[in-house]
Amino acid sequence: MAGAVALSAGLALTGCSSESSGQEPELKVVGAFMPQPVSDMAAGFLTVRNDGGGADRLTSVTSPLSDDVTIHESKDQRMRKVESFGIPADGELNLERGGNHVMFMGLREQPKEGAKVTVKLHFEKSDPITVDLPVKAPTYSPEKH
Ligand code: CU
Repeated sequence: MAGAVALSAGLALTGCSSESSGQEPELKVVGAFMPQPVSDMAAGFLTVRNDGGGADRLTSVTSPLSDDVTIHESKDQRMRKVESFGIPADGELNLERGGNHVMFMGLREQPKEGAKVTVKLHFEKSDPITVDLPVKAPTYSPEKH
């Protein structure tokens, strides 16, 4: 557990400070789903929770379902591709209906409700995370607390 601890306090280093304990993102994906697609496009929703003391970024998503997977934000009823989404330390990134989402274009097939779609999330710092998105009814929306 040793390593180069705490050399970088206060410095915005990129890429070379990965051992400083307590400064690392600790990511977990929860609440992932895909509404059943009704065309050759689909959206995916999920929350990335960060229990670590360092921020990270979601930089891309890949999936066997499509070669064209991007991350989008929604603003003023329009969606727009973004390069990455920030994941704050001790916080979360929400991709949810009406807002940010994963966009799948040119689907190889249209998965039905009950199926699972595998996606791999790629991050700036953390190792990639693979999750299965359960396919839900087209109008499904998770309950809020
Ligand atoms: Cu979109």
